[in-house]
Amino acid sequence: MFDDKVCIITGAANGIGRNIAKSFHKEGAVIAFIDTDLDNGQKLLSDINGEETKHFFFHGNVGKEEELKSFINEVIKRYGKVDYLVNNACYSNKGLLTCCSYEEFNDVLRVGVTAPYYLTMLLKDHFNEGASIVNISSTRAKMSQRDTESYSAAKGGISALTHAMAMSLAGSARVNSISPGWIDTTNAENFSESDKLQHPSQRVGNPEDIARVVLFLCDPKSDFINGENITVDGGMSKKMIYHDDEGWRCTSR
Ligand SMILES: NC(=O)c1ccc[n+]([C@@H]2O[C@H](COP(=O)([O-])OP(=O)(O)OC[C@H]3O[C@@H](n4cnc5c(N)ncnc54)[C@H](O)[C@@H]3O)[C@@H](O)[C@H]2O)c1
Repeated sequence: MFDDKVCIITGAANGIGRNIAKSFHKEGAVIAFIDTDLDNGQKLLSDINGEETKHFFFHGNVGKEEELKSFINEVIKRYGKVDYLVNNACYSNKGLLTCCSYEEFNDVLRVGVTAPYYLTMLLKDHFNEGASIVNISSTRAKMSQRDTESYSAAKGGISALTHAMAMSLAGSARVNSISPGWIDTTNAENFSESDKLQHPSQRVGNPEDIARVVLFLCDPKSDFINGENITVDGGMSKKMIYHDDEGWRCTSR
């Protein structure tokens, strides 16, 4: 479905990003990705390249302006135009209770919000017709556990960035986001029954659950979906929880 479409993915060396890269690759797309993890980045590149050399891995940090510029310069030199941008890379430096510092907090925002903005700016004159941007947000954009301020702020930021960019890029690229819930990236099989059954879908999520929605959003037939967020969390964030109701117990603050 995506034959020869050029797809940029940040943070594709592991986890969800890796699955998104493999899913696009299976559908014929050309993959250009950036990641700080050299070993796993090279491993993914050789997995998808096989005998070919058409895919591209840039070893770099999306939190650094110069590295974003070098990455995109190289992408444009190689491919000319781009069809899809998946802003996937992010991480957490926790928050108030562990005294996340000024610099640590800002770094999460640089990686999770500034990089998606800046990559889009660098690419805005290089999109093919039908271009699509997918931002990976989180259900934590709208709900929280304690000590998660850096990550929650980045996810709130990328969610708002999504509808803002959808307006600015009208007619040039669609922009949507996905909010994953608990997605296991370790192939674990030892979840407890409670881990699974707490989800209305009765299981923990996996990277394919997210990759499938990324491809759905990039499908040209999805072109009336714009500025939207799709939550993929097995129904968890729709669950109303009160102490002593339906077996839920509050045992700590
Ligand atoms: N796994 C979950 O349960 C879950 C839930 C909600 C949202 N998400 C979001 O999905 C996305 C992927 O998460 P994941 O679980 O696959 O994470 P992961 O840690 O398994 O993979 C993240 C990848 O991004 C890379 N990366 C991190 N910082 C980078 C930087 N500064 N520059 C370049 N590359 C960088 C890492 O090296 C890694 O390859 C993230 O945006 C995350 O916030 C994940």
